[in-house]
Amino acid sequence: MKYLVTGGAGFIGSHLCEYLLARGHQVTALDDLSTGSLENIKSIKTNPGFQLVVDTVLNHSVLAGLVSGADIICHLAAAVGVKNIIENPLQSLKTNVEGTLNVLEAAVPSGQRVVLTSTSEVYGKNENVPFSEENDMVLGPTTIRRWGYACSKALDEFLALAYFSEKKVPVVIGRLFNTIGPRQTGRYGMVVPRFVGQALAGEEITVYGDGKQTRSFTYVSDVVAALYLLSQNKNIIGGVFNIGNTEEITIRELAEKVKMLCRSDSRIVHLPMEEAYRDGFEDMRRRLPDLSRIKEAIGYSPKVNLDEALKKVIASFRE
Ligand SMILES: NC(=O)c1ccc[n+]([C@@H]2O[C@H](COP(=O)([O-])OP(=O)(O)OC[C@H]3O[C@@H](n4cnc5c(N)ncnc54)[C@H](O)[C@@H]3O)[C@@H](O)[C@H]2O)c1
Repeated sequence: MKYLVTGGAGFIGSHLCEYLLARGHQVTALDDLSTGSLENIKSIKTNPGFQLVVDTVLNHSVLAGLVSGADIICHLAAAVGVKNIIENPLQSLKTNVEGTLNVLEAAVPSGQRVVLTSTSEVYGKNENVPFSEENDMVLGPTTIRRWGYACSKALDEFLALAYFSEKKVPVVIGRLFNTIGPRQTGRYGMVVPRFVGQALAGEEITVYGDGKQTRSFTYVSDVVAALYLLSQNKNIIGGVFNIGNTEEITIRELAEKVKMLCRSDSRIVHLPMEEAYRDGFEDMRRRLPDLSRIKEAIGYSPKVNLDEALKKVIASFRE
């Protein structure tokens, strides 16, 4: 089949492109290389089944041409992460909302399947863990920029479901929880690459806040396998699915684990949230997925545990 992967030169997108090519599909990646890179796709760039188009999902005509030539669209292009949206709110919101609108609109004439990558951020401050897909979104005020990311992704979900019900575009939504793996950069505030970079460089490992907040991390190969199954299964159209891992760890424990696995002498220090981020930051105490829906729908359960995942990330940093 012919896949269009927007954001295909990004962290998760590049792994997805590799995965699809390995299964004999043809893949076109559309990426503006804003946070993605040619380095991410170096293993596939000469593969005859692969092409990269360097352009933006905000370019209607390019997008329409690429969508019309594809069977399935995996839409990953986005301004990713809370830090990104705090620092560049306007461009980030535009990319996330208008970009998704363009992708969905381009799929109307031929009805290609669209797999949308949303985020666990949409659960916001909900304390009712684990999060199942029907849980409430509990978001903070619009004056706090960090909520713009969750809101933009939630709006993407609304748009996708509206295009499904009114325009018959077959959509499926994956809500990704924290994903980790090689090629993820720490530049945009992602905690695992940041800790690993600090530990290997012998710098202080900086835990934001008291470190008692917990997270769960999914290895990228599990995420990509789930996205693939969601893209292929005809019985789940119009569905919303958590994609994550239920192994929970506090951020302090994560820092200690990374330090130990890196055999690092780095000190672990705590930084107040307000210092780590400008513009009134709010953090969630726990974020854990309920995976029963995706397990039942496509038999998903994560294969890579946290220790293995961290070892792979550390090995890729050492390379
Ligand atoms: N990494 C995570 O933990 C995580 C968690 C939840 C959801 N997600 C979602 O998964 C998707 C991929 O995220 P990622 O972690 O690989 O981040 P990433 O930044 O590596 O990937 C995003 C890609 O989109 C590209 N891009 C940005 N704006 C674009 C535009 N206007 N036109 C074309 N390309 C554009 C970037 O260059 C980059 O290659 C995103 O939609 C993100 O919201 C990621």
